[in-house]
Amino acid sequence: MPEQVGVIGGGRMGAGIAQAFLVAGARVEVVEAGDEAAEAARGRVSAGLEEAARRGKLTAEVAEVLDRLTLVDSPAELTEDAGLVVEAVPERADLKVAVLTAAEAVLGPDAVLATNTSSLSVTELAAALQRPARFLGLHFFNPVPASKLVEVVVAPETAEDVVAASRDWVRALGKTDVVVRDSPGFASSRLGVLLGLEAIRMLEEGVADAEAIDAAMELGYRHPMGPLRSTDLVGLDVRLAIAEYLAGTLGERFTPPQLLRDKVAAGELGRKTGRGFHDYAED
Ligand SMILES: NC(=O)c1ccc[n+]([C@@H]2O[C@H](COP(=O)([O-])OP(=O)(O)OC[C@H]3O[C@@H](n4cnc5c(N)ncnc54)[C@H](O)[C@@H]3O)[C@@H](O)[C@H]2O)c1
Repeated sequence: MPEQVGVIGGGRMGAGIAQAFLVAGARVEVVEAGDEAAEAARGRVSAGLEEAARRGKLTAEVAEVLDRLTLVDSPAELTEDAGLVVEAVPERADLKVAVLTAAEAVLGPDAVLATNTSSLSVTELAAALQRPARFLGLHFFNPVPASKLVEVVVAPETAEDVVAASRDWVRALGKTDVVVRDSPGFASSRLGVLLGLEAIRMLEEGVADAEAIDAAMELGYRHPMGPLRSTDLVGLDVRLAIAEYLAGTLGERFTPPQLLRDKVAAGELGRKTGRGFHDYAED
């Protein structure tokens, strides 16, 4: 496990990734621009740790773990001796390239740089870097503390020792690694998004209501969460962006249904706004 880890973007995923490495004993720097965003990110990590403690999943004191967390303003301020830096900024290639190249410029030559992208090409992001051999995808799942899986996404130039070290780190977090060749949607999104899109098309066609469609998968196929509930959890806007990307790369079967577009336009983005395909008003 690297002693020092950097996480760029302390939103839903970044805060969870930071929490996972903090609990595993690393010192973590989270990059968020501005005091307000930094405080919000610290609040998310802190709330995650409190929740872990409440569930009896944290042996150390929350304050003691939080002591290892530092917030910095930009990737250029990351400590140069970080062994691993994971970016978790919004899903835009230009933004990711900007923060990755800025981080690479301050890191030592052996540091591993990773993207938590759900759908962008790791190979294309690598092309913008000086040391593509030290770069790969580490695709964490939401919510990070409770999820067991990390996809280790290997681009053509990723060095073997980078893959091996990353797999060890994932296991040290108590999670399971699966190695996937860089390709659109990797293994998980390609299947998961397609299932979600088909569920939305079924809703559009009036095949069944949202509860019924989710129950069919939860009870009939033993999925822990139905495809519509899962879309609500991820965020309809996030899913729409991924579907558009996959439609462009893998083909028409990923074309977003009109209902998904309409809900995103109406601000019904899922759990985070209180309504998506289901209602979360009381949460
Ligand atoms: N939400 C999911 O279910 C999920 C799952 C797996 C992967 N991902 C991927 O993780 C990434 C982040 O997603 P998220 O859901 O955490 O988004 P989010 O919007 O919750 O968080 C993004 C964070 O990045 C910060 N940010 C924006 N620009 C920045 C910059 N220049 N420097 C530093 N911080 C900056 C924002 O302030 C925000 O806190 C995306 O690439 C997404 O595709 C998301």
